[in-house]
Amino acid sequence: MTRLAGKTALITGAARGIGLAFARAYVAEGARVAIADIDMDRAQQAAADIGEAAIAVRLDVTDQASIDAGVAETVDRLGQIDILINNAAIFTAAPITEITRADYDRVMAINVGGALFTLQAVARHMIDRGIRGRIINMASQAGRRGEALVGVYCASKAAIISLTQSAGLNLIEHGIGVNAIAPGVVDGEHWDGVDAFFAKYEGKAPGQKKREVGAAVPYGRMGTAEDLTGMAVFLASDDAEYIVAQTYNVDGGNWMS
Ligand SMILES: NC(=O)c1ccc[n+]([C@@H]2O[C@H](COP(=O)([O-])OP(=O)(O)OC[C@H]3O[C@@H](n4cnc5c(N)ncnc54)[C@H](O)[C@@H]3O)[C@@H](O)[C@H]2O)c1
Repeated sequence: MTRLAGKTALITGAARGIGLAFARAYVAEGARVAIADIDMDRAQQAAADIGEAAIAVRLDVTDQASIDAGVAETVDRLGQIDILINNAAIFTAAPITEITRADYDRVMAINVGGALFTLQAVARHMIDRGIRGRIINMASQAGRRGEALVGVYCASKAAIISLTQSAGLNLIEHGIGVNAIAPGVVDGEHWDGVDAFFAKYEGKAPGQKKREVGAAVPYGRMGTAEDLTGMAVFLASDDAEYIVAQTYNVDGGNWMS
């Protein structure tokens, strides 16, 4: 398939998990991709596995100089950026009375500030070059409603939904489409970490929370990273031209809005 033929994409946090699945799917659709991450060993391995259509780029979304350098390197090596996926994020959990300012600052710096300032840098590039680009932010079902032990992460993902609306409304005058994907529970290393938080705070056995959330999905199981690639390709394609500032649930039926 060649729905993204000739396009170039920068995907943050793409060294593993969902971002890596997006990189593979985009290359399969004819795009070239920059796997942008702080984990350069895995980013380079991922790019090598994918082949010449992928490059590894060091980009720390919390560091403006690193964002600017990562965007510049991607433009230098791929020619331009047509598509950005703001995918890098971290998870944290704690009862409200135990949230620390350091944890809050770290999560917000990556999940919200990282997405905003990477989006800003890439949008400036797109506007300068007259590129009618596509930007996809990774939200979450966690951004649709709060969860007792997940206050900071939920707030960060609610902020992503809001930021997608504002950026979408602001940038459409330049022909840049900004939308978001809200996954549900997607198995992988991220959820191994989530499971460990719930083991700690709810006294569950390792793997128990995963089994519970998987069984509760109307579809009948946890998602896989590959379950999300269809939406990521669609939102980056010309077929999504008239879609502006939206957040799409891809969650097996967990949330309706
Ligand atoms: N896995 C799920 O169940 C789930 C559900 C809803 C939403 N999401 C969202 O989807 C996205 C991808 O999730 P995932 O499961 O693949 O996560 P993951 O933890 O497997 O991967 C995150 C990647 O981000 C990178 N990263 C961390 N800090 C960074 C920084 N400062 N700069 C650049 N890269 C950084 C990590 O090195 C890692 O490669 C995230 O935005 C996440 O919040 C995931």
